[in-house]
Amino acid sequence: MAIFVTGGAGFIGSQFVRDWVRKYPAQLLINFDKLTYAGNLENLAEVEGNPAYRLVRGDVCDPNAVLDALPDRCGAVVHFAAESHVDRSILSAAEFVRTNVLGTQVMLDCARQKGVGRFLHISTDEVGGDMEADEWFHEDSPLDPSSPYAASKTAAEHFVRAATRTFGLDTVITRTSNNYGPYQFPEKLLPLAISNAIEERPIPVYGDGMQVRDWIHVEDNTAALFAVLERGRKGATYHIGGGNPLPNIEVLRLLLRLLGRPESLLTRVPDRLGHDRRYAVDCTLIRGELGWKPGIPFEDGLRETVEWYRDHPDWVAHAKSGEYRGYYEKMYGVSV
Ligand code: NAD
Ligand code: TYD
Repeated sequence: MAIFVTGGAGFIGSQFVRDWVRKYPAQLLINFDKLTYAGNLENLAEVEGNPAYRLVRGDVCDPNAVLDALPDRCGAVVHFAAESHVDRSILSAAEFVRTNVLGTQVMLDCARQKGVGRFLHISTDEVGGDMEADEWFHEDSPLDPSSPYAASKTAAEHFVRAATRTFGLDTVITRTSNNYGPYQFPEKLLPLAISNAIEERPIPVYGDGMQVRDWIHVEDNTAALFAVLERGRKGATYHIGGGNPLPNIEVLRLLLRLLGRPESLLTRVPDRLGHDRRYAVDCTLIRGELGWKPGIPFEDGLRETVEWYRDHPDWVAHAKSGEYRGYYEKMYGVSV
């Protein structure tokens, strides 16, 4: 049975695609991606040319394009495609509403129309808003998003739940904490800090740097997504966290130590507007029900990640310059 992935050229989506094609080489995986600035086909070089993998360039907000690409009775849709960066949503929210809300509703409608087996919706711990020092975000906690990005992801979740309640569509939702690992676009904290540190350029620290994020390695996340897709309960929501809650400043100090760079690179800048102080996902449900737990200790994962960025200066330079668009043209002869 085929699987239809949206946003498979992004950071987490491309990890999922690479892992899936390795694990299920006989199943067709269709990657439907608009290839925005965040979609990078260099992330998918490993599966390029594999008969089990097909790329379709398209927009999740365009029902005709989705219906053309989505096979009848497709086994599953895994919906990653989104505008994903909080700072960009603060600058301008319109594209977030379009892609994250309208795009999700279009995907749900198309999935119903095509008789898709299961719809896995990728959400975020940010829909809960920030937690007090001793508070935990549970699957049934109230949703209280702070940023326009989180607000759009919250709205999307409501459409997913409504599709199950109203139409009986088999959906599952995952809410993941901050992912890190190779191939993450260098506008997010860790790849930005690592690449700047390598180049001995200042690393911007928002506000007091004491905001807490729970870091999970992207491979641990995709393992959890496989478990939810294959064994999760219809209509359920599962939290996926790394169990590594750390203030930003500590994470940055650790990576500077790993890279042998001075702390003087850390440069305080004004705080992000509406900045969430602490995320804390409770992951008891997925651990108990599906037997998943993260396997990569943070310091090991961070060391490998730092090495990956150090070993891939061309990838970083392309991502930072937008040059990967040229790569697409070279591969497909189409201007993007
Ligand atoms: P990303 O920004 O790296 O990639 C997004 C992908 O979606 C890109 O390939 C882009 O081209 C594609 N895309 C964007 N708009 C599209 C559209 N209209 N139609 C088709 N494709 C489109 O994102 P990511 O960090 O890999 O995140 C993937 C998903 O996981 C998102 O839904 C995000 O909200 C969620 N999430 C991410 C994190 C994290 O730490 N990165 C944490 C929790 C949840
Ligand atoms: P980010 O990677 O944007 O993820 P999110 O906002 O979705 O958690 O940011 C992670 C944390 O790092 C967040 O608290 C904001 C902070 N941050 C900085 O301090 N400096 C930076 O340059 C960036 C991009 C983020």
